[in-house]
Amino acid sequence: MISFLVHAACFCGQVTTQLPVALSLFILTLRGLSSAKTANRGNLLGMAGMLLVIAAPILMASRNLLFTKPSQMYFFYLTMCTLVCGGFIGYRVAKKVSMTALPQLLATFHSLVGLAAIFIAWAVQTSPYTFGLIGSPEEYFLSEINALELAIGTVVGAITFAGSLIAAGKLHGIIKGTLSYKGRKGVTLTLALILVLLIAFYTICPCTHVFCPILAISLMLGYLLIMPVGGADMPVIVSMLNSYSGWAAAGIGFTLNNILLIVVGALVGMSGAILSSIMCKGMNRSIRSVIFGGAGATTAPTCSGTTQPKGNVKLCSGEDAAIILKNASTVIVVPGYGMAVSQAQHALRELAEALQNDDVTVKYAIHPVAGRMPGHMNVLLAEANIPYEDVFEGGEINREFSTTDVVLVVGANDITNPAAKTDPTSPIYGMPVLDVGNAKTVLFIKRSLAAGYAGIDNDLFYKENTMMLLGDAKKVLETVLRSF
Ligand code: TAP
Repeated sequence: MISFLVHAACFCGQVTTQLPVALSLFILTLRGLSSAKTANRGNLLGMAGMLLVIAAPILMASRNLLFTKPSQMYFFYLTMCTLVCGGFIGYRVAKKVSMTALPQLLATFHSLVGLAAIFIAWAVQTSPYTFGLIGSPEEYFLSEINALELAIGTVVGAITFAGSLIAAGKLHGIIKGTLSYKGRKGVTLTLALILVLLIAFYTICPCTHVFCPILAISLMLGYLLIMPVGGADMPVIVSMLNSYSGWAAAGIGFTLNNILLIVVGALVGMSGAILSSIMCKGMNRSIRSVIFGGAGATTAPTCSGTTQPKGNVKLCSGEDAAIILKNASTVIVVPGYGMAVSQAQHALRELAEALQNDDVTVKYAIHPVAGRMPGHMNVLLAEANIPYEDVFEGGEINREFSTTDVVLVVGANDITNPAAKTDPTSPIYGMPVLDVGNAKTVLFIKRSLAAGYAGIDNDLFYKENTMMLLGDAKKVLETVLRSF
């Protein structure tokens, strides 16, 4: 795929006719992806754009195949081979991956973009003539501006590669805990300063002896920036790395004078940055602390287990829940990560339909970081054909909880935790949460009293108006529906 990317990028830089069409398709893709209703169309447009930029150079190259030298034919077949193998692996992975494992898959893909940027940069560094960046093979050095572009592309690519691998490892649960030591920020800052000096030196003397330390320090920085980040900040980090991967592609595009890479990279980089900023606001984190890593570091993700009750817990059976729901006139459903784990969205829709047929108003409240990635809950609800007009973002529906009869929390935890408002020592302090406790009755569906992703207790479980329905979300919802 890396070889293909280099060749496709070079070809696309030359083939200009399909360029405006492909770029328009990518811009329309982003527009489509901005709303759940048009997201499918956006995806299709993006696929069409990708098909165009991949197929056009291949068709052009195959047309010229008969007239090319054997060595060029070898490159053509190598490109085709990597394309078929990469496409097959991508297809298999996408078919197999579960919704709950998508964030780690995304982080892994971002790391591949970073790796591709490193490989391209290395190829340019070692043979700039092949890329047309110097006049003759005898000339050794790149121009100052090309060297600067290459250095910046390498730095962003290496930080993206190392950081995304760490993020994927953390989300997979392979890397546990956070990195914390005295003077951490000082070390990071010193490395960043050394990097700036090395880049300045590289623009004057762009030799491999300077390039290698730049690469090594950038990889270290990627590790040091992401390792200190704790569980509660991971969503912003994944989206930030998405943005970095775009900038890495754009940086390399500048080096290769490839308009497509520059524009598409900038589109990905900017949209990722905007999403990160929205998410930072949603979690009350400063974007600066996320970019420079770990300032909002909190506890590591914990595995769910059974914790000792910290007060009286009111348990509720499926039959009791059915009666409470039947007597309500307004119900707000708050889905969370547990709904994704249990794949309870279809059972939830059936229960909601039964309630609506009984003249109960049902709405859905989605917190921006519910689940494990942006839009996680929206996708699951859409998959179950839950109407878009019943789904509301947290901010707009938060006021309605106080006038709601029943809030049905399906596998959510942190996003409802009042500690975010009341406990300044809590790792999620300052994060906007859904005020579900203000409703007349709160029904919590989860398997135990265990903590959520941020690893902290939720005092809501012990409140007067809370009732716990312990069990797998899908099974519990099916029981409630049967009783209903
Ligand atoms: P969490 O706080 O992680 O709570 C999910 C709850 O679901 C757990 O407490 C778990 O409790 C329960 N659960 C798990 N499997 C279940 C099943 N089969 N049936 C029923 N319940 C089940 O999730 P949340 O409320 O959605 O909050 C999201 C958290 O993830 C935030 O801390 C956020 O920062 C973090 N995060 C978000 C993202 C994005 S972008 N959305 C990315 C990474 C991290 P039991 O074990 O007791 O069942």
